[in-house]
Amino acid sequence: MWLPKKPLWAPSLSYSITVSVLLLVTPLLVFSLVGCTLGPQRSWFSFHSPWPWRVGFFSSYSLPAYKYGLRRSKKRDAKLKRVEASLAGARALIRNAMINQNRSSPLQDLDYIPNGDIYRNAYAFHRSYKSMERTFKIYVYEEGEPPIFHNGPCKDIYSMEGLFLRFMESNTHFRTHNPDLAHVYFLPFSVVMIIETLFDPIIGDKAVLNRTVGGYVRLVSSKYPYWNRSLGADHFMLSCHDWGPRATRYVPQLYFTSIRVLCNANTSEHLNPKKDASFPEINLKTVEVSVSDIPNLKKILLGIPEDRYLRLREGVKQVQRHFLVNDPPKRYDVFHMIIHSIWLRRLNVLVYS
Ligand SMILES: *[C@@H]1O[C@H](CO)[C@@H](O)[C@H](O)[C@H]1NC(C)=O
Ligand SMILES: *[C@@H]1O[C@H](CO)[C@@H](O)[C@H](O)[C@H]1NC(C)=O
Ligand SMILES: *[C@@H]1O[C@H](CO)[C@@H](O)[C@H](O)[C@H]1NC(C)=O
Ligand SMILES: *[C@@H]1O[C@H](CO)[C@@H](O)[C@H](O)[C@H]1NC(C)=O
Repeated sequence: MWLPKKPLWAPSLSYSITVSVLLLVTPLLVFSLVGCTLGPQRSWFSFHSPWPWRVGFFSSYSLPAYKYGLRRSKKRDAKLKRVEASLAGARALIRNAMINQNRSSPLQDLDYIPNGDIYRNAYAFHRSYKSMERTFKIYVYEEGEPPIFHNGPCKDIYSMEGLFLRFMESNTHFRTHNPDLAHVYFLPFSVVMIIETLFDPIIGDKAVLNRTVGGYVRLVSSKYPYWNRSLGADHFMLSCHDWGPRATRYVPQLYFTSIRVLCNANTSEHLNPKKDASFPEINLKTVEVSVSDIPNLKKILLGIPEDRYLRLREGVKQVQRHFLVNDPPKRYDVFHMIIHSIWLRRLNVLVYS
Protein backbone atom coordinates (compact mmCIF):
# COMPACT_ATOMS: atom_id res chain seq x y z
CA MET A 1 0.00 0.00 0.00
CA TRP A 2 1.27 3.48 -0.63
CA LEU A 3 0.00 6.84 0.46
CA PRO A 4 0.85 9.95 -1.52
CA LYS A 5 2.31 12.54 0.73
CA LYS A 6 2.74 16.25 0.21
CA PRO A 7 6.02 17.01 -1.57
CA LEU A 8 8.93 16.70 0.77
CA TRP A 9 11.23 18.40 -1.59
CA ALA A 10 11.34 19.43 -5.18
CA PRO A 11 14.97 19.64 -6.08
CA SER A 12 16.40 20.93 -9.31
CA LEU A 13 19.93 19.79 -9.58
CA SER A 14 20.00 19.16 -13.29
CA TYR A 15 22.36 20.62 -15.78
CA SER A 16 21.03 23.70 -17.42
CA ILE A 17 22.57 23.06 -20.81
CA THR A 18 22.03 20.42 -23.42
CA VAL A 19 25.08 18.38 -22.80
CA SER A 20 24.50 15.58 -25.24
CA VAL A 21 24.28 17.75 -28.32
CA LEU A 22 27.44 19.53 -27.32
CA LEU A 23 29.28 16.31 -26.83
CA LEU A 24 28.32 15.19 -30.28
CA VAL A 25 29.20 18.43 -32.04
CA THR A 26 32.37 19.02 -30.14
CA PRO A 27 34.94 16.55 -31.34
CA LEU A 28 37.47 18.31 -29.14
CA LEU A 29 36.83 15.87 -26.38
CA VAL A 30 38.72 12.68 -26.00
CA PHE A 31 37.56 10.49 -23.19
CA SER A 32 39.88 8.10 -21.50
CA LEU A 33 37.43 5.26 -21.60
CA VAL A 34 38.14 1.79 -20.47
CA GLY A 35 35.96 -1.22 -21.14
CA CYS A 36 35.83 -4.67 -19.60
CA THR A 37 38.71 -5.90 -21.67
CA LEU A 38 39.46 -2.80 -23.66
CA GLY A 39 42.38 -0.47 -23.57
CA PRO A 40 41.93 3.28 -23.37
CA GLN A 41 40.87 5.50 -26.25
CA ARG A 42 38.74 2.94 -28.05
CA SER A 43 35.50 4.51 -27.22
CA TRP A 44 33.14 7.38 -27.53
CA PHE A 45 29.87 8.18 -26.03
CA SER A 46 26.88 8.10 -28.26
CA PHE A 47 23.50 9.40 -27.35
CA HIS A 48 20.61 7.64 -28.94
CA SER A 49 18.07 8.98 -26.58
CA PRO A 50 16.22 12.08 -27.65
CA TRP A 51 16.76 13.71 -24.27
CA PRO A 52 20.03 14.80 -22.89
CA TRP A 53 21.10 12.81 -19.95
CA ARG A 54 20.52 14.96 -16.92
CA VAL A 55 22.48 14.57 -13.79
CA GLY A 56 19.97 13.76 -11.16
CA PHE A 57 16.77 15.54 -11.84
CA PHE A 58 14.81 16.70 -14.77
CA SER A 59 14.54 20.45 -14.57
CA SER A 60 10.87 20.65 -13.79
CA TYR A 61 11.05 17.73 -11.49
CA SER A 62 8.80 17.74 -8.51
CA LEU A 63 7.54 14.59 -6.96
CA PRO A 64 5.57 13.89 -3.87
CA ALA A 65 7.39 11.59 -1.54
CA TYR A 66 5.53 8.31 -1.37
CA LYS A 67 5.11 6.20 1.70
CA TYR A 68 5.28 2.48 1.51
CA GLY A 69 4.84 0.03 4.31
CA LEU A 70 3.79 -3.26 5.82
CA ARG A 71 3.82 -4.64 9.34
CA ARG A 72 7.20 -6.00 10.33
CA SER A 73 9.06 -7.28 13.34
CA LYS A 74 10.26 -4.80 15.96
CA LYS A 75 13.95 -5.43 15.34
CA ARG A 76 13.61 -4.89 11.63
CA ASP A 77 11.49 -1.80 12.30
CA ALA A 78 14.36 -0.30 14.27
CA LYS A 79 16.76 -0.96 11.40
CA LEU A 80 14.40 0.53 8.86
CA LYS A 81 13.98 3.58 11.07
CA ARG A 82 17.74 4.06 11.12
CA VAL A 83 17.91 3.77 7.33
CA GLU A 84 15.10 6.30 6.94
CA ALA A 85 16.65 8.63 9.52
CA SER A 86 19.88 8.79 7.53
CA LEU A 87 17.88 9.76 4.44
CA ALA A 88 15.95 12.38 6.39
CA GLY A 89 19.24 13.90 7.52
CA ALA A 90 20.50 14.08 3.94
CA ARG A 91 17.22 15.63 2.76
CA ALA A 92 17.50 18.35 5.38
CA LEU A 93 21.10 19.15 4.41
CA ILE A 94 20.30 19.33 0.71
CA ARG A 95 17.17 21.39 1.23
CA ASN A 96 19.16 23.76 3.38
CA ALA A 97 21.83 24.03 0.68
CA MET A 98 19.14 24.83 -1.88
CA ILE A 99 17.63 27.56 0.26
CA ASN A 100 20.90 29.12 1.31
CA GLN A 101 22.61 28.85 -2.06
CA ASN A 102 25.93 28.99 -0.26
CA ARG A 103 28.07 29.49 -3.31
CA SER A 104 30.39 31.79 -1.44
CA SER A 105 31.58 29.07 0.90
CA PRO A 106 32.12 25.92 -1.14
CA LEU A 107 32.41 22.57 0.59
CA GLN A 108 35.87 21.10 0.91
CA ASP A 109 36.79 18.49 -1.66
CA LEU A 110 40.22 17.27 -2.69
CA ASP A 111 39.13 16.02 -6.12
CA TYR A 112 36.64 18.50 -7.47
CA ILE A 113 34.40 21.35 -6.41
CA PRO A 114 31.32 21.63 -8.65
CA ASN A 115 31.04 25.15 -9.90
CA GLY A 116 29.66 27.04 -12.88
CA ASP A 117 26.64 27.45 -15.09
CA ILE A 118 26.22 23.80 -15.94
CA TYR A 119 24.81 23.22 -12.49
CA ARG A 120 21.45 24.59 -11.56
CA ASN A 121 22.76 24.80 -8.04
CA ALA A 122 26.35 23.63 -7.73
CA TYR A 123 26.39 23.93 -3.97
CA ALA A 124 23.27 21.80 -3.53
CA PHE A 125 24.60 19.26 -5.98
CA HIS A 126 27.86 19.05 -4.08
CA ARG A 127 26.02 18.72 -0.79
CA SER A 128 23.89 15.94 -2.21
CA TYR A 129 26.87 14.15 -3.75
CA LYS A 130 28.83 14.22 -0.51
CA SER A 131 25.82 13.05 1.51
CA MET A 132 25.48 10.18 -0.93
CA GLU A 133 29.11 9.21 -0.45
CA ARG A 134 28.75 9.28 3.30
CA THR A 135 25.37 7.59 3.54
CA PHE A 136 24.16 5.60 0.56
CA LYS A 137 24.18 1.80 0.76
CA ILE A 138 23.11 -0.58 -1.98
CA TYR A 139 22.30 -4.23 -1.56
CA VAL A 140 22.84 -6.42 -4.62
CA TYR A 141 20.71 -9.57 -4.52
CA GLU A 142 23.05 -12.53 -4.72
CA GLU A 143 20.53 -14.92 -6.28
CA GLY A 144 20.91 -15.78 -9.97
CA GLU A 145 23.82 -17.14 -11.95
CA PRO A 146 25.90 -15.68 -14.75
CA PRO A 147 25.64 -15.23 -17.69
CA ILE A 148 22.18 -13.70 -17.16
CA PHE A 149 22.74 -12.31 -13.68
CA HIS A 150 25.69 -10.40 -12.19
CA ASN A 151 27.17 -10.10 -15.63
CA GLY A 152 26.77 -8.39 -18.98
CA PRO A 153 28.63 -7.70 -22.20
CA CYS A 154 31.04 -4.79 -22.10
CA LYS A 155 31.28 -4.15 -25.79
CA ASP A 156 28.98 -2.48 -28.34
CA ILE A 157 26.20 0.00 -27.60
CA TYR A 158 24.94 -1.96 -24.62
CA SER A 159 28.30 -1.84 -22.85
CA MET A 160 27.16 0.45 -20.08
CA GLU A 161 24.77 -2.24 -18.84
CA GLY A 162 27.59 -4.78 -18.48
CA LEU A 163 29.98 -2.23 -17.02
CA PHE A 164 27.48 -1.12 -14.41
CA LEU A 165 26.78 -4.71 -13.36
CA ARG A 166 30.49 -5.40 -13.10
CA PHE A 167 31.26 -2.18 -11.21
CA MET A 168 28.38 -2.82 -8.85
CA GLU A 169 29.53 -6.38 -8.13
CA SER A 170 33.04 -5.28 -7.25
CA ASN A 171 32.11 -2.06 -5.46
CA THR A 172 33.13 -1.80 -1.83
CA HIS A 173 32.05 1.76 -1.05
CA PHE A 174 28.32 1.69 -1.79
CA ARG A 175 27.64 -2.01 -1.77
CA THR A 176 26.59 -3.57 1.51
CA HIS A 177 26.23 -7.28 2.17
CA ASN A 178 23.76 -6.61 4.96
CA PRO A 179 20.35 -5.97 3.38
CA ASP A 180 19.04 -4.40 6.61
CA LEU A 181 21.48 -1.52 6.14
CA ALA A 182 20.59 -0.85 2.50
CA HIS A 183 18.72 2.16 1.13
CA VAL A 184 18.12 0.49 -2.21
CA TYR A 185 18.14 -3.05 -3.58
CA PHE A 186 19.57 -3.89 -6.98
CA LEU A 187 18.05 -6.56 -9.23
CA PRO A 188 21.22 -7.62 -11.07
CA PHE A 189 19.81 -9.09 -14.29
CA SER A 190 21.06 -8.16 -17.75
CA VAL A 191 18.37 -7.70 -20.39
CA VAL A 192 21.07 -7.92 -23.06
CA MET A 193 22.12 -11.33 -21.75
CA ILE A 194 18.53 -12.57 -21.44
CA ILE A 195 17.98 -11.70 -25.10
CA GLU A 196 21.32 -13.12 -26.25
CA THR A 197 21.05 -16.31 -24.23
CA LEU A 198 17.38 -17.20 -24.03
CA PHE A 199 15.56 -15.42 -26.82
CA ASP A 200 14.94 -17.53 -29.89
CA PRO A 201 14.55 -15.23 -32.90
CA ILE A 202 12.72 -17.91 -34.89
CA ILE A 203 10.11 -18.69 -32.27
CA GLY A 204 10.17 -15.03 -31.21
CA ASP A 205 9.06 -16.02 -27.74
CA LYS A 206 9.13 -12.82 -25.75
CA ALA A 207 7.83 -14.68 -22.72
CA VAL A 208 11.46 -15.33 -21.74
CA LEU A 209 11.47 -11.82 -20.33
CA ASN A 210 8.38 -12.55 -18.28
CA ARG A 211 9.78 -15.86 -17.07
CA THR A 212 13.20 -14.51 -16.18
CA VAL A 213 12.42 -11.08 -14.75
CA GLY A 214 9.06 -12.09 -13.25
CA GLY A 215 10.57 -15.25 -11.80
CA TYR A 216 13.43 -13.29 -10.25
CA VAL A 217 11.16 -10.77 -8.58
CA ARG A 218 8.96 -13.60 -7.28
CA LEU A 219 12.05 -15.31 -5.89
CA VAL A 220 13.50 -12.34 -4.04
CA SER A 221 10.09 -11.14 -2.84
CA SER A 222 9.27 -14.49 -1.30
CA LYS A 223 12.72 -15.05 0.18
CA TYR A 224 13.26 -11.55 1.62
CA PRO A 225 10.88 -9.03 3.21
CA TYR A 226 12.25 -5.99 1.34
CA TRP A 227 10.22 -6.09 -1.85
CA ASN A 228 6.84 -6.48 -0.17
CA ARG A 229 7.72 -3.86 2.42
CA SER A 230 8.06 -1.13 -0.21
CA LEU A 231 6.17 -2.74 -3.11
CA GLY A 232 9.47 -2.46 -4.96
CA ALA A 233 9.85 1.30 -4.53
CA ASP A 234 13.36 1.01 -3.09
CA HIS A 235 14.44 -1.49 -5.74
CA PHE A 236 16.13 -0.70 -9.01
CA MET A 237 17.07 -2.36 -12.28
CA LEU A 238 19.26 -1.04 -15.07
CA SER A 239 19.23 -1.72 -18.77
CA CYS A 240 20.61 -0.32 -21.99
CA HIS A 241 18.72 -2.69 -24.25
CA ASP A 242 15.79 -1.43 -26.33
CA TRP A 243 13.74 -4.04 -24.54
CA GLY A 244 14.77 -2.74 -21.13
CA PRO A 245 11.42 -0.98 -20.58
CA ARG A 246 9.52 -3.98 -21.97
CA ALA A 247 11.40 -6.33 -19.63
CA THR A 248 9.85 -4.54 -16.66
CA ARG A 249 6.30 -4.63 -18.02
CA TYR A 250 5.57 -8.12 -16.77
CA VAL A 251 5.89 -7.11 -13.14
CA PRO A 252 3.52 -4.20 -12.55
CA GLN A 253 5.30 -3.06 -9.38
CA LEU A 254 8.65 -3.09 -11.13
CA TYR A 255 7.12 -1.06 -13.94
CA PHE A 256 5.08 1.43 -11.93
CA THR A 257 6.93 1.69 -8.64
CA SER A 258 10.56 0.63 -8.84
CA ILE A 259 13.40 2.83 -10.02
CA ARG A 260 14.25 1.88 -13.60
CA VAL A 261 17.55 3.15 -14.93
CA LEU A 262 17.23 3.04 -18.69
CA CYS A 263 19.29 4.14 -21.67
CA ASN A 264 16.15 4.17 -23.72
CA ALA A 265 14.95 7.40 -22.22
CA ASN A 266 11.81 8.08 -24.16
CA THR A 267 8.36 8.78 -22.82
CA SER A 268 6.97 6.61 -25.61
CA GLU A 269 8.74 3.81 -23.76
CA HIS A 270 6.83 4.87 -20.67
CA LEU A 271 9.85 6.26 -18.94
CA ASN A 272 8.51 8.05 -15.91
CA PRO A 273 10.97 10.83 -15.05
CA LYS A 274 9.55 11.09 -11.57
CA LYS A 275 10.84 7.72 -10.51
CA ASP A 276 12.98 6.43 -13.37
CA ALA A 277 16.40 7.68 -14.41
CA SER A 278 17.97 7.93 -17.83
CA PHE A 279 21.42 6.85 -18.54
CA PRO A 280 23.94 7.44 -21.33
CA GLU A 281 24.41 4.72 -23.88
CA ILE A 282 28.05 4.33 -24.63
CA ASN A 283 29.40 2.85 -27.75
CA LEU A 284 32.72 1.17 -27.12
CA LYS A 285 33.19 0.16 -30.76
CA THR A 286 32.79 3.08 -33.09
CA VAL A 287 33.12 6.81 -33.21
CA GLU A 288 29.61 8.10 -33.64
CA VAL A 289 30.41 11.40 -35.33
CA SER A 290 30.69 10.35 -38.94
CA VAL A 291 32.88 12.13 -41.47
CA SER A 292 29.87 13.20 -43.49
CA ASP A 293 28.58 15.12 -40.48
CA ILE A 294 31.65 17.31 -40.23
CA PRO A 295 30.60 20.01 -42.74
CA ASN A 296 27.35 20.32 -40.82
CA LEU A 297 29.12 20.47 -37.50
CA LYS A 298 31.20 23.34 -38.77
CA LYS A 299 28.06 25.13 -39.88
CA ILE A 300 26.47 24.53 -36.51
CA LEU A 301 29.52 25.76 -34.69
CA LEU A 302 29.94 28.80 -36.95
CA GLY A 303 26.34 29.70 -36.29
CA ILE A 304 27.11 30.16 -32.63
CA PRO A 305 28.46 33.57 -31.61
CA GLU A 306 32.03 33.48 -30.32
CA ASP A 307 31.28 34.32 -26.69
CA ARG A 308 28.49 31.80 -26.53
CA TYR A 309 30.70 29.19 -28.14
CA LEU A 310 33.41 29.79 -25.55
CA ARG A 311 30.87 29.53 -22.76
CA LEU A 312 29.50 26.31 -24.19
CA ARG A 313 32.99 24.89 -24.58
CA GLU A 314 33.74 25.78 -20.98
CA GLY A 315 30.53 24.00 -19.96
CA VAL A 316 31.53 20.91 -21.89
CA LYS A 317 34.95 20.89 -20.26
CA GLN A 318 33.30 21.11 -16.87
CA VAL A 319 30.78 18.44 -17.57
CA GLN A 320 32.98 15.85 -19.22
CA ARG A 321 34.17 14.30 -15.97
CA HIS A 322 30.57 13.22 -15.34
CA PHE A 323 30.53 11.22 -18.56
CA LEU A 324 33.86 9.48 -18.16
CA VAL A 325 34.04 5.74 -17.68
CA ASN A 326 36.92 4.86 -15.42
CA ASP A 327 38.03 1.40 -14.44
CA PRO A 328 37.95 1.28 -11.51
CA PRO A 329 35.38 4.09 -11.19
CA LYS A 330 36.50 7.45 -9.87
CA ARG A 331 34.54 10.05 -7.94
CA TYR A 332 32.19 12.18 -10.07
CA ASP A 333 32.49 9.91 -13.12
CA VAL A 334 29.62 8.29 -15.01
CA PHE A 335 29.29 5.37 -12.60
CA HIS A 336 29.00 7.72 -9.65
CA MET A 337 26.55 9.98 -11.47
CA ILE A 338 24.29 7.01 -12.15
CA ILE A 339 24.47 6.09 -8.47
CA HIS A 340 23.67 9.73 -7.70
CA SER A 341 20.54 9.62 -9.90
CA ILE A 342 19.38 6.55 -7.98
CA TRP A 343 20.17 8.28 -4.69
CA LEU A 344 18.04 11.28 -5.64
CA ARG A 345 15.09 9.10 -6.54
CA ARG A 346 15.40 7.15 -3.33
CA LEU A 347 15.29 10.41 -1.39
CA ASN A 348 11.77 10.89 -2.72
CA VAL A 349 10.47 7.73 -1.14
CA LEU A 350 9.64 6.99 2.48
CA VAL A 351 9.47 3.36 3.51
CA TYR A 352 7.83 2.77 6.83
CA SER A 353 6.71 -0.16 8.89
C1 LIG B 1 26.19 29.42 4.60
O1 LIG B 1 27.25 30.34 4.77
C2 LIG B 1 27.18 31.09 5.96
C3 LIG B 1 28.32 32.08 5.99
O2 LIG B 1 29.20 31.90 4.95
C4 LIG B 1 27.22 30.14 7.16
O3 LIG B 1 27.08 30.88 8.35
C5 LIG B 1 26.08 29.13 7.06
O4 LIG B 1 26.17 28.20 8.11
C6 LIG B 1 26.16 28.39 5.73
N1 LIG B 1 25.01 27.50 5.61
C7 LIG B 1 25.14 26.22 5.30
C8 LIG B 1 23.86 25.46 5.18
O5 LIG B 1 26.21 25.67 5.11
C1 LIG C 1 3.79 -13.67 -17.08
O1 LIG C 1 3.92 -14.87 -16.34
C2 LIG C 1 2.93 -15.05 -15.35
C3 LIG C 1 3.27 -16.26 -14.51
O2 LIG C 1 3.89 -17.25 -15.25
C4 LIG C 1 1.56 -15.14 -16.02
O3 LIG C 1 0.56 -15.32 -15.05
C5 LIG C 1 1.31 -13.86 -16.79
O4 LIG C 1 0.11 -13.93 -17.51
C6 LIG C 1 2.44 -13.59 -17.77
N1 LIG C 1 2.26 -12.27 -18.35
C7 LIG C 1 2.29 -12.02 -19.64
C8 LIG C 1 2.01 -10.62 -20.06
O5 LIG C 1 2.53 -12.87 -20.47
C1 LIG D 1 5.38 -11.16 -0.50
O1 LIG D 1 4.13 -11.14 -1.14
C2 LIG D 1 3.93 -12.24 -2.03
C3 LIG D 1 2.63 -12.01 -2.77
O2 LIG D 1 1.65 -11.53 -1.92
C4 LIG D 1 3.95 -13.53 -1.23
O3 LIG D 1 3.77 -14.62 -2.10
C5 LIG D 1 5.30 -13.65 -0.53
O4 LIG D 1 5.34 -14.80 0.28
C6 LIG D 1 5.57 -12.42 0.32
N1 LIG D 1 6.92 -12.48 0.81
C7 LIG D 1 7.23 -12.56 2.10
C8 LIG D 1 8.69 -12.60 2.43
O5 LIG D 1 6.40 -12.59 2.97
C1 LIG E 1 10.82 8.17 -29.00
O1 LIG E 1 9.44 8.38 -29.18
C2 LIG E 1 9.06 8.91 -30.44
C3 LIG E 1 7.55 9.08 -30.46
O2 LIG E 1 7.03 9.43 -29.23
C4 LIG E 1 9.50 7.98 -31.57
O3 LIG E 1 9.19 8.56 -32.80
C5 LIG E 1 11.01 7.74 -31.45
O4 LIG E 1 11.41 6.79 -32.43
C6 LIG E 1 11.38 7.23 -30.07
N1 LIG E 1 12.82 7.13 -29.96
C7 LIG E 1 13.46 6.04 -29.50
C8 LIG E 1 14.93 6.12 -29.44
O5 LIG E 1 12.86 5.04 -29.15
